[in-house]
Amino acid sequence: MSGVTASAPGKLMLLGEHAVVYGHPCLVTAVNQRIHVTVEKNGKDVFYMEAPDLGLNAYSKTIENLAIKAPPPAVRFVEHLYKRFLQRWPQREGIIVKTKSEFSSAFGFGSSSAVSVAFAKALTSLYEINLNNDELFELCYQAVLDVQGVGSGFDIASAIWGGTIYYVPPAQVVRRVAIEELPLVVGYTGIKADTPTLIRMVQSLHADEPEMVEGWFTQIAGLVNKAEKAMGEKRWDELGKLMMKNQSVLRELQVSSVELNRLNRAAVKAGAYGAKLSGAGGGDCMIAVVQTEVRAKVEKAIEIAGGEVMKVELNAEGARYE
Ligand code: MEV
Repeated sequence: MSGVTASAPGKLMLLGEHAVVYGHPCLVTAVNQRIHVTVEKNGKDVFYMEAPDLGLNAYSKTIENLAIKAPPPAVRFVEHLYKRFLQRWPQREGIIVKTKSEFSSAFGFGSSSAVSVAFAKALTSLYEINLNNDELFELCYQAVLDVQGVGSGFDIASAIWGGTIYYVPPAQVVRRVAIEELPLVVGYTGIKADTPTLIRMVQSLHADEPEMVEGWFTQIAGLVNKAEKAMGEKRWDELGKLMMKNQSVLRELQVSSVELNRLNRAAVKAGAYGAKLSGAGGGDCMIAVVQTEVRAKVEKAIEIAGGEVMKVELNAEGARYE
């Protein structure tokens, strides 16, 4: 029996991280590194997955044992999602899942959200179940919560809708920001950060100092709203300033790091309009808004400061069938 293939993009947080976990808006753009997932029926009571790019070969489990013992990281989201799917739409036979990733091995831009969305899109189509974007979001977000317990779902929304979106969790608002280009440089610190750990750090700060932290979140939300407008009007200098302010609040939240601060400083010194961390913090990536004339200089400065410049196209297309 022939299968169905779907793909979904990675994502890059622009502004609003952490505050978005508490119901505030964020801005996120999809990146053109995609994961392709093929799903076919196998006629057996077994879930089988091959994801060589994610370090997983010939993994199999009987359907009744799905997601009972913690699955390995590469299969976690897919396995939980499949279990949720079967609870809602029971099937007699299992599936074969194969993935192909275009993500760089150094830094993934959110491979778990991309793999979840591409899998859910291919799987539902295989069984001729038509889900709109909101329903697809619900299925995938549920699986993320099953696995991580925390998260705003912004990465799932980005993988589904693509482009650049203004997002209020959990997909209460998903609004496309009408831009053709996004003049950003992306620098990777070389340090992998663990998002759930950072979310929990902020949670404990929030529990200790609720009023102060809520105040910071409100400030972040204000910056996100202004940034949406600035982007729509192509006022990149203004976007840079707003990112700098967002970065100051993220430093107060203690999620920035020595390396991120160093790369941000280098970018701004080399002429960027502004720079900030992107994502949970603690490492991973920073972004800088640049004019074309200074792009090369900013990239060089980031490299000299110890970062790796990630060549990615932004504002990429959302999930699609292949
Ligand atoms: C992580 O990339 C962004 C956070 O806001 C977490 C989330 O929104 O799920 C820290």
